[in-house]
Amino acid sequence: MTQPLILAIESSCDETAASVVRGGVDILSNVVSSQIESHKRFGGVVPEVASRHHVERVTYVIEEALSTADVTIEEVDAIAVTEGPGLVGALLVGISAAKALAFAHGKPLIGVHHIAGHIYANRLVGELEFPLVCLIASGGHTELIYMPEDGVYEVIGETRDDAAGEAYDKVARTLKLPYPGGPQIDRLAQSGKDTFRFPRIWLEKDSYDFSFSGLKSSVINAVHNAEQRGEKIVPEDLAASFQASVVEVLVGKAIRAAKDKGAKQLLLAGGVAANKGLRGALEAACKQEGIPLLTPPLALCGDNAAMIGAAAIHPYLAGRTSTLAMNAEPGLDLESK
Ligand code: KG4
Ligand code: ZN
Repeated sequence: MTQPLILAIESSCDETAASVVRGGVDILSNVVSSQIESHKRFGGVVPEVASRHHVERVTYVIEEALSTADVTIEEVDAIAVTEGPGLVGALLVGISAAKALAFAHGKPLIGVHHIAGHIYANRLVGELEFPLVCLIASGGHTELIYMPEDGVYEVIGETRDDAAGEAYDKVARTLKLPYPGGPQIDRLAQSGKDTFRFPRIWLEKDSYDFSFSGLKSSVINAVHNAEQRGEKIVPEDLAASFQASVVEVLVGKAIRAAKDKGAKQLLLAGGVAANKGLRGALEAACKQEGIPLLTPPLALCGDNAAMIGAAAIHPYLAGRTSTLAMNAEPGLDLESK
C-alpha cells in the first residue's frame, strides 16, 4: 500500500507553516515562515499583526512546501490544518486556506489539535509505544497527557496559571531580554548557578498540576529588590535559578506520572522542549529510572506543520475527516478530538 501524502498547514500563533508528510512519518518538506522579528518590538505576539502576516505568507508557504516535496496538489491524499487552540484570527487564515484547497481539489480535510501536533512531532523521530505519558511545555500550555493508544488523550495534569513558556518569556522581559525570552534564559542559564534557590511549586502531593505564577513573582521581586537596594544581580545566576526550579518540577512530575501510569515511554513536546536544561535533566532522570524517552529534534520543538501532518494520519486512516463547516476553535479541547 502506498503511504498517504498529507499536506499540513499550521498558523495558530506566530509561525506560518506548511509541510508534506508521507504516512505520518516521512517529512518531504517542512516550511516555516517566522514572524518573530515583527513581534519583537512589542515584546510579545500581537494577534492582529500575526493574522496579517499569515494572510501575506500562507499561499507562498504552501506552494513552497509542495514544490520542495516535488508533489502536486493533485497527488496529495488529504489536507490537514490546525483547528485550535490558538489565536482565532491566526487560526482562521490557515483553516480558510486548507478549506479552499480541499474544496477546489476535492480532498478530505482533517482538523488537528495543536497539542496533538506537538505530541506527534515525536512520531517523526521514532515509534510510539503505548501507553505513554507526554510532558507538553509550550508558550500556551503546560500539561501531562496520558495516551493509552494512538489518537486517545487524557489530560492528567495542567498548569493552574501560567504556562512554562509564558513564565520564561515574562522573566526574560524583567531582565530586558528580547522576545521570545525562553531561548535567551536558556542560554544565560548555561553559565549561571542556582544561587537564589527559588521555591519549587509542587502543589498537593498527588497532583500532576503545575503552577508557575508564584515562581515568576519571586523572580520579579528579586530583581526589583536588588534594584531598590542599588545591588547588581548576576543575570546568568538569576536565569539558572529560575530554570532550576522550572526543570525540577517538570521533570519530577513527568517521571512520577510515567511511573504511576506504567508508561512504556515518556515523550517531551512543545516549544520549551528545546530547552537544554530540561532535555538534559529529563534524559538523566529517565536513564536512572529506566524509562525510554523520546524527544523531538530542536527544529520540530517549536511550531511547525510537519507535526500537524504526523498527527493527522491517525484520524485520516480512521476516516475521521472534517467538513467544510470547520471553524477556528481557540479553546479546542484535546480529549474530545
Ligand atoms: O510551542 P511553541 O513554539 O508555541 C506555542 O504553541 O506556544 O512554544 C513557544 C514557547 C515560547 O514561550 C518560547 O519562549 C519557549 O517556547 N521556548 C523556550 C525555548 N525555546 C522556545 N523556552 C525555554 N527554553 C528554550 N530553549
Ligand atoms: Zn505550539
